[in-house]
Amino acid sequence: MTPPMDEPLPPSGLSLSPIVAGAWRMADWGMAAAQRLNWITQCLELGITSFDHADIYGGYTVEALFGEALALQPALRHRMQIVTKCGIKLVSPQRPAHGIKSYDSSVAHVRASVEASLRALRTDHIDLLLIHRPDALMDPLELAEVFAQLRAQGKVLHFGVSNHLPSQFKLLHGRLPLVTNQIELSPLHLHALSDGTLDQCLDLGLQPMIWSPLGGGRLFTGTDAQALRVRGVLQALADQHGVSVATVAYAWILRHPSRPIPITGSHRLVALQEAWAALSLRLSAEDWYRVWQASMGHEVP
Ligand SMILES: NC(=O)c1ccc[n+]([C@@H]2O[C@H](COP(=O)([O-])OP(=O)(O)OC[C@H]3O[C@@H](n4cnc5c(N)ncnc54)[C@H](OP(=O)(O)O)[C@@H]3O)[C@@H](O)[C@H]2O)c1
Repeated sequence: MTPPMDEPLPPSGLSLSPIVAGAWRMADWGMAAAQRLNWITQCLELGITSFDHADIYGGYTVEALFGEALALQPALRHRMQIVTKCGIKLVSPQRPAHGIKSYDSSVAHVRASVEASLRALRTDHIDLLLIHRPDALMDPLELAEVFAQLRAQGKVLHFGVSNHLPSQFKLLHGRLPLVTNQIELSPLHLHALSDGTLDQCLDLGLQPMIWSPLGGGRLFTGTDAQALRVRGVLQALADQHGVSVATVAYAWILRHPSRPIPITGSHRLVALQEAWAALSLRLSAEDWYRVWQASMGHEVP
C-alpha cells in the first residue's frame, strides 16, 4: 500500500501528516535545544510534518522548549503544521492566578492562551487550535465567535476539539466547522469504537487525531491481564509481517475507515520510524478482530 501523503482534512483544506509527532513528554526528555531541533528535523525528514502541543504540557513549559529549538532554524516553520490546545487550567507556578484545576473556554481565557502559545512557540500563527477537554460551562455561540475572530486575525487557521463526545462536538460544529476530534484510541483503549465518536467522524468525513496510540507505553510495560493478552497477539502478528509490535499497533489504528491520524509520543528516531512503517501495513479484518478480542478478553457477541 502506498503511504497516504499529506491529505487535506475535509472540508477545511488543512493538511496534517499521516503520523503526527506529540510533544507532551518533551520536558522529560532532558534534551538541549540543539537536540530538540534534531528531533524536529528527524520528524520532518521522515514525513512527520505536524507537531502536537498543548499550553499545559510540561507544566506550561513545552511550547517554549519547542519554540526555542525552532528559533535555531526558523525557516523550518514553513515546513510544519503546529497544533496546540487550550481550555484546561492547571494550578501552576507558571499561572499563579489559577485557584483550582478547572476548564475554561471563555473568550478571555482562549484569547490569552492563544497569545501565550504564539509567544512560546515563537510563531505568528497556529495551524490548528483544539479545545482540550469539554467544558461544562462552554457557551458555543461565544466560542464560535472568538474562533472566527482569531481566524480573521490570522492567528489561528483551523479549529477542533479533543476528548469531546459526539453531542458535545455537534454543539460547536453546528456554529463553526471543526476539523477534528483528538481522542484516545489504542489496542488497550477501545471506547471510541463504541461510544459514537468514530461513527461521527465517519459521518462527517473528519479524520480523528489519536492520542496514546501505544497506551502511553503500557503496551510494552503493562503486566495486567489485558496488556499481556494484547501484547501476545501483537507479537504474533509482528512476527508474521516482519515488523515491530509498535508498527502492528499503529496499523491496527490506521485500519479504521475514519482514516485516523495517530500521534506518536516518542523521542526516539526508531520509534518514529516504526510508526511511519505502519502506513505500509494493512491488517486483514480477522487480524484486526484478533487484537479486539485480546483487548476485550472475549470474542465478539
Ligand atoms: N488530547 C489529549 O488529551 C492528549 C492526551 C495525551 C496525549 N496527547 C498527545 O498524544 C501524544 C502521544 O501520547 P503518548 O505519549 O501517550 O503516546 P504513546 O506513543 O502511546 O506513548 C509514548 C510513550 O511510550 C513509550 N514507549 C515505550 N516503548 C515504546 C516503543 N517501542 N515505541 C514507542 N514508544 C514507546 C515512549 O517512550 P520513548 O520516548 O522512550 O520511546 C513514551 O514514553 C502526546 O505527545 C500528546 O501530543 C493528547
